Amino acid sequence: MKGAPRSKEFDDVYFSAEDGLAETTHVFLDGNDLPGAWAQRDEFTIAETGFGTGLNFLAAWDLFERTARPDQCLEFVSFELYPLKREEIERYLAPWGDFFKTILPVFLEKYPDDLNGVHTLDLNDRVRLTLHFGDVNEALPKLECQVDAWFLDGFKPSSNPEMWSDTVFENMARTSAPGATFATFTAAGFVRRGLQAAGFHVRKVPGFASKREMIRGSLAPAAE
Ligand SMILES: C[S@@+](CC[C@H](N)C(=O)[O-])C[C@H]1O[C@@H](n2cnc3c(N)ncnc32)[C@H](O)[C@@H]1O
Repeated sequence: MKGAPRSKEFDDVYFSAEDGLAETTHVFLDGNDLPGAWAQRDEFTIAETGFGTGLNFLAAWDLFERTARPDQCLEFVSFELYPLKREEIERYLAPWGDFFKTILPVFLEKYPDDLNGVHTLDLNDRVRLTLHFGDVNEALPKLECQVDAWFLDGFKPSSNPEMWSDTVFENMARTSAPGATFATFTAAGFVRRGLQAAGFHVRKVPGFASKREMIRGSLAPAAE
């Protein structure tokens, strides 16, 4: 795909101009060991900072449909301060219309018209998406759930430092299930240090395409 949608507020792209879906697969799916991580689980919860176009969500849902047993359930929770309209999402995801042939129309039909508040979308009998429209710094402290995998996908920390805050990192730790993992495209020093201070093990690994490094990791077990 040539080009990628760009945010005027943050002067950054929603996903890689080289290949957004390949980036999502490398950074967020492989970075959280999916689908292996959900293999032994009846219910699996993913939380994401920065819903954007929903590309990450669709990639996770598609992988789940292809690899999970029929009795397994997927909860996906995401936060978005500047929600896109349905028409914008449809346009931005058009390059993957064939790839997401079955699930994209279902998602678009259920995507809310009201771009405020919290929306729970039951996409089928085992996949649920909960969208929190608002600042992740305000919404995440109110979240009550047990997250198994985190997709940290704000715009780059240098242009959007508010999204990579101690409030976010501390509330990630608070709402993480034992052994929860995270992955993100960035390897920025203050993000690494913030996650470590909140109790996460952090590891640098090769990034997508021309990005030399990204980080991934897991919540350290609580001290005895
Ligand atoms: C790189 S984009 C996310 C791309 C997205 N995951 C996708 O699959 O298209 C980062 C997103 O974070 C959102 N964002 C920026 N600051 C935020 C904040 N404080 N709280 C919640 N979302 C925020 C932006 O509006 C943008 O949609």
